[in-house]
Amino acid sequence: MNITSAEFVISNTDVKKCPAGNFPEYAFIGRSNVGKSSLINMLTGRKGLAMTSATPGKTMLINHFLINKNWYIVDLPGYGYAKRGQKGQEQIQKIISSYILQREQMTNLFVLIDSRHEPQSIDLEFIEWLGENGIPFSLIFTKADKLKGGKLGANIKLYLNRLKEQWEELPPYFITSSEDKTGREEVLNYIEGINKELQK
Ligand code: GTP
Ligand code: MG
Repeated sequence: MNITSAEFVISNTDVKKCPAGNFPEYAFIGRSNVGKSSLINMLTGRKGLAMTSATPGKTMLINHFLINKNWYIVDLPGYGYAKRGQKGQEQIQKIISSYILQREQMTNLFVLIDSRHEPQSIDLEFIEWLGENGIPFSLIFTKADKLKGGKLGANIKLYLNRLKEQWEELPPYFITSSEDKTGREEVLNYIEGINKELQK
């Protein structure tokens, strides 16, 4: 899929104030600092579209970007950033869960996992919660450029095996790097395929 336009539309904390209409939307979620905003910039080919930072906790709002005038990318705040404090984390949790549970236009949630780490309980619990609530999701293993040799494949295999303990069927998954654009075509083609299905 070619990205011909990508425009920031609105940021907010209230799911009811998200854009009206029924364009399909694809949201990106995961731990703080996993690379959500960087991935959105890589996918759209627009460097400064979503705000990124080396300090976790950068994205605090639900951010809508209109792509090719007919679908949305949504950048969500990250979960699990301890320095936000209990209250701050609860607030973010509320924003995230109300968006995920209430936003009917959300066609697919991409759950980002840092490919460098072993399966973390915070992500596994989040994925389990998605399952319990029947939320359509796929996985994206990020920062693939940071792993050398067979380590990347080994980590992903470990992750998928761990998920198999919980799930009969594995969700679709992608391997990406925002540094060298690994996975860009795969993710965009996946989105394009769903968009086409929805138009039938
Ligand atoms: P929050 O908004 O704080 O939840 O973080 P985020 O998930 O949006 O992460 P962000 O895109 O801001 O990236 C966090 C840090 O990781 C930044 O320093 C990025 O440059 C770096 N980063 C993100 N993706 C990649 C990647 O694919 N490869 C490498 N090497 N670094 C990455
Ligand atoms: Mg961000």
